[in-house]
Amino acid sequence: MSKNYDIRDLSLADKGRFRMQWAAREMPVLELIGQRFEKERPLKGLRMSACLHVTSETANLMRVLQAGGADVVLTASNPLSTQDDIAATLVAHYEMPVYAIKGESNETYYAHIKAALDHRPQITMDDGADLVGTLHKDRRELLPGVIGGTEETTTGVIRLRAMAADGELMFPVIAVNDALTKHLFDNRYGTGQSTMDGVIRATNVLIAGKNLVVGGYGWCSRGIAMRAKGLGANVIVTEIDPMKALEAVMDGYRVMPMAEAARLGDIFITSTGDINVLDQHHFEAMKNGAILANSGHFNVEINIPALEKMAIEVRRVREFLDEYILADGRHLFLAGEGRLVNLAAAEGHPSAVMDMSFANQALAAEYVVKNYDKLGHAVYSVPEDIDNEIARLKLAAMGVSIDVLTSEQDAYLRQWRSGT
Ligand code: ADE
Repeated sequence: MSKNYDIRDLSLADKGRFRMQWAAREMPVLELIGQRFEKERPLKGLRMSACLHVTSETANLMRVLQAGGADVVLTASNPLSTQDDIAATLVAHYEMPVYAIKGESNETYYAHIKAALDHRPQITMDDGADLVGTLHKDRRELLPGVIGGTEETTTGVIRLRAMAADGELMFPVIAVNDALTKHLFDNRYGTGQSTMDGVIRATNVLIAGKNLVVGGYGWCSRGIAMRAKGLGANVIVTEIDPMKALEAVMDGYRVMPMAEAARLGDIFITSTGDINVLDQHHFEAMKNGAILANSGHFNVEINIPALEKMAIEVRRVREFLDEYILADGRHLFLAGEGRLVNLAAAEGHPSAVMDMSFANQALAAEYVVKNYDKLGHAVYSVPEDIDNEIARLKLAAMGVSIDVLTSEQDAYLRQWRSGT
């Protein structure tokens, strides 16, 4: 790549700046961290490569890392999640090398990751572990220069733990997703709202009265089920984990195998982290007109190659909706090319939850710098004091105050003699 960025259109920069500033209004915790970073410069001179969804929220995180002194480049963490105006803003107004174009091919996506690795990062910041995976597979000569990394999402943390278990991970990574201030809010409320936003923007169908099948009942799927129910859908949950399935039953949802749900669903949303959750035998059982969407990190949860094989024609009927006309005459509709629908067809999680996720990212990067020499080649949780501090700051920013234990209550919790 000749120039030090690859984006759609630099002239979108001013539009992106307004959207970035709008997002910042809902990100007070990150703002506070930014102000401290500007004074203390904890990341001074460090080369960082970030592989994140290029959104208005991410742009604000990038601004904070720069304020902390980091020399950052940014590449997309999904071919379809980039907001082109934001990419332009970072290049034009922050002089940041950005490699991200909405709708880029898989080939360009990996070329962009390689360009970000050419920056020779000392710290990696990943969402889905494609950057760290590519670094370990194709650019091993860079590994000795890396002091550590951070990982944003459930899927990425699972991949990194698999690497560590195989003895392949070559530096410490902080699992931002493990922080309570991340997954309890971002995964649940963020994915819940933005996924329904994506399905609605892609289709504009009425959710009320529809049978909506949610694949999985982890934190993300819980949020999707909750918001779909709030919009009036009859929600069906599918699971492989008995504990999660039981929880879904007690939360008031119908739970059944996907093979049964396939016959009933009007809308299907997968968010499991695994492959072929919707497979050929499910497509064969589906009602004419069923809508399929995925909100898991990778586009593997819906078996799109099988769907393509079953189709005699595929046509784009709306901006983020493809119609698959099957040989038996039925029509199935796929939203956002089976990529995470909340970022492909909408704008991703709202800024107020990304505030906490990205506060964790910024503080985890600072933690790596201060502690890398004490850490092994493993996946670490965000320290509890950082997590709690983010919760405290978020409450304060929301104007919510809480009680403090009296000394009598504190003493009661420390004793074991008194009962009823
Ligand atoms: N992941 C989900 N939503 C996001 C957003 N708005 N920005 C960055 N990453 C995200």
